[in-house]
Amino acid sequence: MLEPATATTATTATPDGAAGDATWWRQAVVYQVYPRSFADSNGDGTGDLPGLTARVPHLAHLGVDAVWLSPFYPSELADGGYDVADHRDVDPRIGTLEQFDELVAALHGAGIKLIVDIVPNHSSDRHPWFRQALAAAPGSPERERYVFRRGRGEHGELPPSDWTAAFGGPAWEHVGDGEWYLHLFAPEQPDWNWANPEVREDHLRTLRFWADRGVDGFRIDVAHALTKDMSLPLPTAAELAADDLPDGAHRLFDREEVHEVYREWRRLFDSYDPPRTAVAEAWVPAHRRSRYASPDGLGQAFNFDLLRSAFDACSFRAVVEENLALAARAGSSSTWVLSNHDVVRHATRYALPDGADEEAWLLSGGTEPPADHERGLRRARAATAFVLALPGSTYLYQGEELGLPEVADLPAGALQDPTWVRSGGTRKGRDGCRVPLPWKASGTSFGFGPGPAHLPQPGWYADFAADAQDGDPASTLEFYRRALARRARLRCAEDLEWVEGTPEGVVAFRRPGGWTCATNFGTEPVPLPAGRVVLSSGPIGETLLGGETTVWLEDEAGAAR
Ligand code: NOJ
Repeated sequence: MLEPATATTATTATPDGAAGDATWWRQAVVYQVYPRSFADSNGDGTGDLPGLTARVPHLAHLGVDAVWLSPFYPSELADGGYDVADHRDVDPRIGTLEQFDELVAALHGAGIKLIVDIVPNHSSDRHPWFRQALAAAPGSPERERYVFRRGRGEHGELPPSDWTAAFGGPAWEHVGDGEWYLHLFAPEQPDWNWANPEVREDHLRTLRFWADRGVDGFRIDVAHALTKDMSLPLPTAAELAADDLPDGAHRLFDREEVHEVYREWRRLFDSYDPPRTAVAEAWVPAHRRSRYASPDGLGQAFNFDLLRSAFDACSFRAVVEENLALAARAGSSSTWVLSNHDVVRHATRYALPDGADEEAWLLSGGTEPPADHERGLRRARAATAFVLALPGSTYLYQGEELGLPEVADLPAGALQDPTWVRSGGTRKGRDGCRVPLPWKASGTSFGFGPGPAHLPQPGWYADFAADAQDGDPASTLEFYRRALARRARLRCAEDLEWVEGTPEGVVAFRRPGGWTCATNFGTEPVPLPAGRVVLSSGPIGETLLGGETTVWLEDEAGAAR
């Protein structure tokens, strides 16, 4: 039934990305650690580097190729650490530079690479250069490092424009002398001025600092926003958001000049052996993504299309087809993301009725509409097995290997995400996917640390604890371990051939070496494709592939490997 009819090859053959070579990132499984919520060694409620180092065996057993570490730099936590006060140090609540070196050694000792987050669009308002800018006069070189503009009105008492910030509220903050500074995110995150050579030089220093310490790559935050056209007159918010702007013409985002920055960074990355890698967080239309992912730029870019896609055969296949083609055109490999620290966890997204408004659901405390968690986890495991079989790299988010759902009923008083306050309580924000992990089914903070956790953990966390799942073949943790181990064994060139003629709601594709992946997105069982089953995301019958389930199969030749 699943014999290929019209076979399409989506990519050309490329290096296999085996660990240790310069292309290791192309098909890597990268595990995102949000450090304040991963593991706490000292009981202060905040996850830290020694806590993470102690859990390297968990990551090695899981089988990941790399860790992406979200910001661990000194920060006042106005935006979960994405407000960086010093890019070349460790927040004392998280650890020390020596402990960072220990982490690198432990990861490398386990064969795991390390990618760190670089936040180049803005700093913290506690950054020494921003303190100097505030103390200096309008027009001074200190202010030139950020985006200061005189306000409108006789005394500059009105903001320079009516732009709004991503978390809500105005994008400008008054400094009391007629000038305002731009912040595309929270007021505590002033935007850098990338036309300033000192800003550029300082970021090169930061990249060298971490590369010299053994970091293997970088995740670049808001990579599309660095260079801006701030010439006067400034457009209104409506003009800024006009949807008929030609590519590259937006005043703030995705401007051509930003690639000069990344070409310079690439020269720096390539001066290391092996070259350092980078992945862009660039919220740009799909056809513009390849500019960030090109080999003379950052090299890879996140594709968030599956985050916005319903659990649906046509949507998933369309996203894969488009992104494999785009990545190939860029000379890169695609990325696949189902969860991260900014979105509702995918086990929960798939538990909501299709088309449900996630913001409204969070505001209802996770009650309206009711979530079907069993279904959510079944679909989440199927989607995970689907993406892990694709060419390209998969980015996993901490806790998804436990099948963790979103914590939707955090009390308002506990919320830390600036979105909550800045939106006037109309958007709950991202804390629900940042609740510290449950390592143990019992004990203080479910084994997160010796003290209480910095965000309250629900009682049902016990059911998802790592120790409760360890060794249980039906658990999500063991499913992830099996999937990563088999993916490593089946590693092959970046080719994919669609299997046509599948039953409605089934998407199947073949990879080189006799590896087939088939996902039944529907709810009714379909005939199990031919081959030896090497992985299934849920229970399957002798001859049937159940609803909302993925299987990996090997043909006879492949089974010998
Ligand atoms: C993207 C990060 O993923 C998000 O967490 C952060 O709030 C913004 N960039 C601003 O740095």
